[in-house]
Amino acid sequence: MKYEFPHKDIIDPDQFTKKDLETILTITDYVVELQKAKKINHLLSDYLMASLFFESSTRTRLSFETAMLRLGGKVISTVGFQFSSISKGETLYDTMKMIEAYADIAVIRHPVEGSSRIAASAIDIPIINAGDGAGHHPTQALLDLYTIYKEKKSIDNLRIAFIGDLKFSRTIHSLVKLLTHYNVEIVFISPVDLAIPEMYRKELKKKNIEFEETEDLKAFWDCDVAYVTRIQEERFVDREEYERLKNSYVVNKAMVLASKKNTMIMHPLPRVNELSTDVDSLPNAVYFKQAKYGVDVRMALLILCLQVELPDL
Ligand code: CP
Repeated sequence: MKYEFPHKDIIDPDQFTKKDLETILTITDYVVELQKAKKINHLLSDYLMASLFFESSTRTRLSFETAMLRLGGKVISTVGFQFSSISKGETLYDTMKMIEAYADIAVIRHPVEGSSRIAASAIDIPIINAGDGAGHHPTQALLDLYTIYKEKKSIDNLRIAFIGDLKFSRTIHSLVKLLTHYNVEIVFISPVDLAIPEMYRKELKKKNIEFEETEDLKAFWDCDVAYVTRIQEERFVDREEYERLKNSYVVNKAMVLASKKNTMIMHPLPRVNELSTDVDSLPNAVYFKQAKYGVDVRMALLILCLQVELPDL
């Protein structure tokens, strides 16, 4: 299987063309087939991945590590500043210089926006941004895109609602950017204080993507997909502001059953109380499946960034 993928690093959703996105979706499908044929177990056996998580994570860290191990690769990791020499004052630049000496590819989550770009500029091995503050989370957006493509069979001609903290949610910021490559309509549902930042409105207008903004949760009832997010507590400077907004919306089973289009419910997880557990049993609740697709997409991304040849099926 031949492919063209002109990126060593994955930093920002803006780096991708529509062709790149199609390549990622196709290669992910292919990797799933290779896995069924038991042909992936040694693909990355010559490679070692550094897993650098300076901010908390369950899914992103474990799914990247799972992806690498399933491909036969090896993993070294550091979790939290307190267990790295950054806590002694070492710079991110020096830290990355060391990682380059140990590993063949690095995945980094860091609380500062732009940190993965700084890390990538310091070293030559591939760097994957696993979330940089309130900036971007491109691999989450790619697995979200893959989920829509798998579950809805096409990304075009869908009406997609984003619900919750649209101001700080990096997964929403990244996915909105990827969706500008498709023919979609977007409905932003949030309190005014957590509205989507102006730069995303401008980009949607520039790309002629129809969108509307509302505070009315019922607006997702005529959407094909509703993407719910938690209020991002860790990004608030003002605690009182968080307390005032934290229960803005709750999507529950009754709300979902009232939708006119059997709306597919997505969530990047973790959830707090914005998505009721009674939704879990509905067939259109796909968020656990969405997280599972994350391993497939991240296997494909590791292969693509390392430019590893894929065997025939
Ligand atoms: N969706 C996501 O990024 O989850 P984690 O914070 O658990 O990695």
